[in-house]
Amino acid sequence: MMSNRQVTDCIDEWKSLEKEYSVLDADFEKYRQQLDDLYVLQERCVKMINHQKKRYQHLLDTFKENSGIINGEEKKAVNEIEAQMNKRQNNFKQMEDNLPRDSGALFFFDRKLLTAILGPMSVSLLKKQDRFKYKDEYEKFKFICTIIMFVFSFTNLFLVEFRFSDALYHFVLLWYYCTVTLRETILRHNGSRIKGWWVFHHYISCVLSGVLLIWPDGPVYQLFRNQFMTFSLYLSLVQVLQYYYQRGCLYRLRALGEKGNMDITVEGFQTWMWRGLTFLLPFLFFGHFFQLYNAYTLYTLSYHDDCVEWQVPASALIFLALFFGNFSTTVLVVLQKVRNLNPKKPADKTN
Ligand code: COA
Repeated sequence: MMSNRQVTDCIDEWKSLEKEYSVLDADFEKYRQQLDDLYVLQERCVKMINHQKKRYQHLLDTFKENSGIINGEEKKAVNEIEAQMNKRQNNFKQMEDNLPRDSGALFFFDRKLLTAILGPMSVSLLKKQDRFKYKDEYEKFKFICTIIMFVFSFTNLFLVEFRFSDALYHFVLLWYYCTVTLRETILRHNGSRIKGWWVFHHYISCVLSGVLLIWPDGPVYQLFRNQFMTFSLYLSLVQVLQYYYQRGCLYRLRALGEKGNMDITVEGFQTWMWRGLTFLLPFLFFGHFFQLYNAYTLYTLSYHDDCVEWQVPASALIFLALFFGNFSTTVLVVLQKVRNLNPKKPADKTN
């Protein structure tokens, strides 16, 4: 009987696939072994860094306690050790950037939020490129949401006047602030220097959106509605400006950090940053005073004859808190930047 050509080809192919599979199997075994070794090494490095830091602190405390009773030679040795320790702290920082992070540095709330939503999983991004990509994605996400919010508030202000479409908008805002808070917590976990207030600001904004969402329709709601939509429209425009500024900083800082990149200097970065900031700040401050004005309007509305809703004084208080927090933090950030105007340190966007 003649053999079937197609089946013979298949059998030959299977043999060659078997050979390929044994290579794959060996590679996979090697990969698993290296992954295990990697986890062991990661854990060992984290433990050793923590141990070193603890011992350094102990040494520093002892030096401090005995600072009054040491002789000249000892003082020289101590100074040398302290200088070495300072250098090591920088090295530790670089090492930690490439190791899984302990979430202890986060606020209690942030830690709870992460575990409640994601469960006990690690959100450490070990590669610099991954951290940059995540931050870049976060900025893009905020930008797209800002455009959606602009369209929503424009439609609500000029085209439709339904409580349902307002509620939809408040719901989108609520979802946006929850998502941004989660992303910012992950960013902070991975070394971003986002000030605590901005994260807290988003927690408060979640509450505000919730309160506005459940504020029942009525004469008082209608009296505030247009002002809120105008504010939202303005906020979207400011956020677009903020996006261009923040994204510009991100890309320039990245270029500064790249070895051999001659396109940008520290001075060039600082000039660009200050130009961006001085353009942005008047818009930000106007937005802050708009928040104060919202608080004032809501406060006066809470004394309106038809006002029975608790949402009115509650949102007045929240707008007031937002005004104080935003205004004072922005002023502090600017003052810090002025104080740190030192052309030698690139990290000083960074404070
Ligand atoms: N939200 C989220 N992240 C912020 C932030 C904000 N409002 N402000 C700063 N950051 C981040 C930066 O991107 C940077 O992140 P990185 O460490 O991952 O690179 C980090 O915090 C440190 O930034 P910093 O140097 O303190 O400030 P900046 O130069 O990036 O921005 C301002 C300064 C004033 C422009 C910015 O803080 C801001 O826009 N504040 C006003 C926000 C506001 O009031 N909004 C309401 C308007 S009505």
